[in-house]
Amino acid sequence: MSATLGYVLLAAGKGTRMHSDSPKVLQAVLGKPLLGYVFDALAHVPPGLVWTVIGFGAHEVRAAFAARDLQFVLQEEQLGTGHAVSLAWPEIVASGLTHVCVLNGDTPYVPVQEVEALADLCRDEGAAMGMLTLELENPFGYGRVVRFPDGTVLRVVEEKDFDAVEYGGEINEVNSGVYVFDVAQCSGLLAKMDRDNAQGEFYLTQLISLCAEAGLCVAGMPFGSSELLRGINSPQELVDFEEALRARIVAGHLRSGVILRGGSSIVIGPDVEIAPGAEIVGPCEIYGRTRIERGARISSHCWIRDAVLGPCQVKSFSHIEGARIGEGASVGPYARLRPGADIGRKARVGNFVEVKNATLHEGAKAGHLSYLGDSDIGADVNIGAGTITCNYDGVRKHRTEIREKAFIGSNTALVAPVVVGAGAVVGAGSVVTKDVPDAALCVARARQTNIERRKRQEKPQS
Ligand code: UD1
Ligand code: CA
Repeated sequence: MSATLGYVLLAAGKGTRMHSDSPKVLQAVLGKPLLGYVFDALAHVPPGLVWTVIGFGAHEVRAAFAARDLQFVLQEEQLGTGHAVSLAWPEIVASGLTHVCVLNGDTPYVPVQEVEALADLCRDEGAAMGMLTLELENPFGYGRVVRFPDGTVLRVVEEKDFDAVEYGGEINEVNSGVYVFDVAQCSGLLAKMDRDNAQGEFYLTQLISLCAEAGLCVAGMPFGSSELLRGINSPQELVDFEEALRARIVAGHLRSGVILRGGSSIVIGPDVEIAPGAEIVGPCEIYGRTRIERGARISSHCWIRDAVLGPCQVKSFSHIEGARIGEGASVGPYARLRPGADIGRKARVGNFVEVKNATLHEGAKAGHLSYLGDSDIGADVNIGAGTITCNYDGVRKHRTEIREKAFIGSNTALVAPVVVGAGAVVGAGSVVTKDVPDAALCVARARQTNIERRKRQEKPQS
């Protein structure tokens, strides 16, 4: 068991190569921001031991993770990775930690075990710094690792400062951006970093040369050639990483016993849970904390996020977010379930029906063209085509309650707050503004009048 390790996450950069107005660490991979992967991987670390350096779009980053217990360090001007770490340093020293791991926030994979092994190596060997290195066929864009003959690291040369001729050829071993620092040994060196390089930045990697010059040891631990530890800097790198992860996740679900037809067109987020025995047809996208139970069948072209699906049927082209669907229920095609939609056992939501913050109890049916918002719809209620719950008066939202076995005729407007009693029948085309008692018949529309037309005289011929 390793001694306590702190973490500094570098997430202040703009990500110029991404050409986006949002900070790079908020770019999504399978519907989840890059930095979210890092936070989840470090969920076992006490929040007081993780410092996240933010700067570009800092308020956006804070807002994206507002629900988490995090501590941020603000780097107002992004003067480089070395500058970012030096801003967090006083807090690290004050925490009393002996070792701290620094990670690039643009690298979603965190090799927690290897980081701990690296920290142990630093402790055992008394190294001032340790780093995980990658062996890449194409090292373009990465800092190249130059080693002493004894294998310890001499320096890292950044892409823009690297000249292959000077180093006798290309170097395929690169810096992964995962480091461990011995706090005591490195403290004196941070102030010695300068901006004397091709990008005019304080490079964190300069600390390696500073260690070597001071006679301190830097351990380089190879992590192989894995794609996993690659940083994400450009749209191409983002989609390459996303596709590799997507394929791995789909393969994992198939192995576990989920039937994924057309798996190459199915996108499943990393936190989605699918029980063996569920069946999904691509193309479709499933994100967030969605949970799908055994026996659920999802047809093609559905988009689902943060939903809980029992053994139900979701038909094509349905859009489902923050909803729950019970056993034996049927949803779609072309249904839209918004947050708070709770579709009970054997209930049915058909085409062009939108449900928001509303419960349909067992056996309730809304087959066609309806909006059901802020409502409680009792068991075995029948909602006719074109029914609208008018839940918003321009200022506030109000609830509609339709009790069990009520029958709502087509094209009815239910002006909330309103209650339709159990077993009541509402005539088609009604505008219901008052409560309807149990078992009553409500007709709230202009009475039809048929007027006999007088015979018109023939037009005179001209
Ligand atoms: C960095 C390393 C490089 C390594 C590569 C691995 C340096 C100087 N270079 O290069 O050796 O091979 O990662 O992926 O560190 N950031 C800040 N503040 C800043 C600048 C950057 O917080 O002032 C953050 C960024 O948001 C990003 C991380 O630091 O998450 C790395 O910055 P980036 O510009 O992507 O560095 P690379 O050029 O990829
Ligand atoms: Ca990077």
